[in-house]
Amino acid sequence: MHIVLLGAPGSGKGTQAQRLATGLGMQQLSTGELLRAAVSQRTAVGLAVQAAMEAGSLVPDETVLGMIRERLAADGATTQFILDGFPRTLAQARSLGDLLANLDQALRAVVYLEVDFDSLMKRLTGRRTCSETGQVLNIYYSSQADLDACRERGGELLQRDDDKEDTIRHRLEVYDRQTAPLIEHYRDEGLLRIVDADADVNTVYRRLTEALQG
Ligand code: AP5
Repeated sequence: MHIVLLGAPGSGKGTQAQRLATGLGMQQLSTGELLRAAVSQRTAVGLAVQAAMEAGSLVPDETVLGMIRERLAADGATTQFILDGFPRTLAQARSLGDLLANLDQALRAVVYLEVDFDSLMKRLTGRRTCSETGQVLNIYYSSQADLDACRERGGELLQRDDDKEDTIRHRLEVYDRQTAPLIEHYRDEGLLRIVDADADVNTVYRRLTEALQG
């Protein structure tokens, strides 16, 4: 049984998926991470999606469905996945439903991480990734000790290409238009759990695990 984390850019899907994966013995499956890896390795998929990602638009449904199909068919029967950033359109959600049914697998829950616009902007403009450790940090929310630890290990705090203010605004518009309708879709399917994610990381994690128990 797999879990979907649904929410706007910056709502904390990646942060919470990592913690859930450790806490519940599941595996994070992030389409954003897979696509960024393809771009940096300059694979055929990476070259095809680079422009859309830099602009903050969605990449074609078939591209992400291909990646998800491959992982679920290979490991879905033995591994419980936390889907982070997928599905993101109604077409993706419907295809995921068909795919899982064909593989005799199912979703356990879809958790919507609810965060207000101002917090999303602050989290996204402040996000940095340590070039040495890969740790995702935030210049507004991470402790000074954590930020210093990256530099002390010889790392740099890098900003994602799509975390510039104009691109962030576009990503949030794309989310409202193409992804937010999934909230009603999954409410109708009886899978939706809503978590107030406008709180510190530990509090959100506690709320998330409680929502999954209900
Ligand atoms: P993707 O990588 O999925 O980006 P996103 O959905 O825009 O989400 P983010 O990674 O920006 O945010 P997040 O919710 O994971 O938050 P995080 O935990 O990092 O996708 C990138 C691109 O790939 C898309 O634009 C699209 O082009 C393409 N793509 C991916 N999937 C696709 C799909 N299915 N279909 C089509 N195209 C697709 O947290 C953000 C920051 O806030 C961090 O600094 C973190 O430290 C901080 N933070 C987290 N939680 C808290 C908290 N509780 N309090 C304070 N700070 C916090």
